[in-house]
Amino acid sequence: MCGIVAYLGQRRAQPILIEGLKRLEYRGYDSAGVAIRCADGMHLAKAVGRIMMLENEAALRSCDAGTLGIAHTRWATHGGPSVENAHPHTDASGKLAVVHNGIIENHSALRKLLEQEGVVFRSETDSEVLPHLFAKYYRGDLAEAVRQGLKEVRGTYGIAVIHADNPDALVAARNGSPLIVGIGDGEFVVASDASAIIAHTTRVVYLEDREIVTLTRDGFSTSTIDAVPTSKEIQEVEWDLEQIEKKGYAHFMLKEIYEQPESLADTTRGRIDIEEATAVLGGLRAFAKELTRAKRIILTGCGTAWHSALIGEYLFEDLARIPVEVEYASEFRYRNPIIEDGTVVVAISQSGETADTLAAVREARNKGALTLGIVNVVGSTIARETDAGVYLHAGPEIGVASTKAFTSQVMVLFLMTLFLGRRRHMAHHHAVNIIQALTRVPDQVRDLLKQDGHIEEIARTYKDRENWLYLGRGYNFPIALEGALKLKEISYVHAEGLPAAEMKHGPIALITPDMPVVFLANRGLQYDKIMSNIEEVRSRGGRVIAVATEGDEEIGSHADHVIRVPDVGESLQPLLNVVPLQLLAYHVAVMRGCAVDKPRNLAKSVTVE
Ligand code: F6R
Repeated sequence: MCGIVAYLGQRRAQPILIEGLKRLEYRGYDSAGVAIRCADGMHLAKAVGRIMMLENEAALRSCDAGTLGIAHTRWATHGGPSVENAHPHTDASGKLAVVHNGIIENHSALRKLLEQEGVVFRSETDSEVLPHLFAKYYRGDLAEAVRQGLKEVRGTYGIAVIHADNPDALVAARNGSPLIVGIGDGEFVVASDASAIIAHTTRVVYLEDREIVTLTRDGFSTSTIDAVPTSKEIQEVEWDLEQIEKKGYAHFMLKEIYEQPESLADTTRGRIDIEEATAVLGGLRAFAKELTRAKRIILTGCGTAWHSALIGEYLFEDLARIPVEVEYASEFRYRNPIIEDGTVVVAISQSGETADTLAAVREARNKGALTLGIVNVVGSTIARETDAGVYLHAGPEIGVASTKAFTSQVMVLFLMTLFLGRRRHMAHHHAVNIIQALTRVPDQVRDLLKQDGHIEEIARTYKDRENWLYLGRGYNFPIALEGALKLKEISYVHAEGLPAAEMKHGPIALITPDMPVVFLANRGLQYDKIMSNIEEVRSRGGRVIAVATEGDEEIGSHADHVIRVPDVGESLQPLLNVVPLQLLAYHVAVMRGCAVDKPRNLAKSVTVE
């Protein structure tokens, strides 16, 4: 996730900004930049890679005395990681500088408009519209210019803005992207995250959405974007740094599980065209014709990404009516796959660096397939080597066990289903129903997270068991696999996921009173069959944990424990069902004393075959 630090005070801004950026490093970033206002104008320094690289920039060293500046760590979304795309961005004069977190949804329209007015853009980012827009309204009052500009902006932002001609003003604003103002003794530190502030002060003001703050050397004032003054209470930050980095969560994995309502919303933000009932996927637009005519799609990936590919198979075949095969990337590469005309290979990867998946992409490309990437890390190798793709926009995932990237992968597959389905056989009203259901998912996930305490109790009951089974049918079969993978990788307990019907072909021999069996038992087409499977387990003494539909009274008399999820229909159910299984695995691992964020023998990005 991008990070912002800004300073106005009596001390040298440069070391404070650099130290602030270092405090934000844990959030993940791919480039960084600083703008400092000095007597001779604005000094700008940007670098790709570590903050250390930025410190070496001559431009930064040449402006030693400035006491006003803004800085940014970037996690690429629009446009890959490069010096041009790194923040701060400036207007044409180079005097007005902006750092931005969030996504400007109407950036294409704004860009077009500004270009018609003669603005020349220097980056591929959505953020660069901001300095040009503010410069257009600038008449000496920076806050007023920002306010005017923001009225034209749709999307999310946390911004900090300075102008070379205004040595005493720092303007910041937020809408859907956090921003905190630290109030020190004769100085202000603004940041997207308290960790960059508390080395200087623990007194802070939290900005609200659509609120703008003007900081001067004499004090600060806040108002809404519409210029209605607001009054703010100064609060004390009570967390220590370690807690802040994890936002108070004990582990990154837990934080990332809890971030899913936001990450899912970010994945869909600006990508739904409700009029046409389809998805707007800029990265695929140039290949729309080839995709519409595709005869076969091969989805590939590893581990959790392979599980999302399995869900993609159900979605594409069921709703977009395209034949799909799912392949482990490692197997695809070595089995001499047949790629015919009209074959599209879609590689799914959080990191975009997984060696097996990359090798599969190269193999597919060499054989003439159109290759697409569904990737989280912008500018990663898979993103670069595929013909086109769709980014997850889930923000950095730091815990080794993939959680929010998985749900965003499934969400992107849904968007692609709409994109392809509407160009093929999907009726308008059907797509509208899907879109309406999709937009409810973030809130439904938020509600589900409230069952965390109940799930923790279930974990406590079974934490010492060494073997678990996870069973599901249809769309829920990949969730059974994912639930089992989460448990085994972070708690070192043996767990197996299976299509529920397969149990009677062998694994049923394992069932004893010691064996917890997690059933994905939502009401739906295969409900009766799942109930029979539950009985088969119960009659052998196995313990049943059921993920079941809210309002299903019957299940209570068949299962030892029930986790209730809303009924969202077969195809959407995976997005909700996986959340309690992530929490279950998390709690078991914590109770067993495992290193949840860094499980033994595992790395976040597997770059060896
Ligand atoms: C499991 C997990 C791994 C990854 C796999 C692929 O929680 O994280 O199974 O899903 O290593 O990684 P990416 O998605 O980066 O290609």
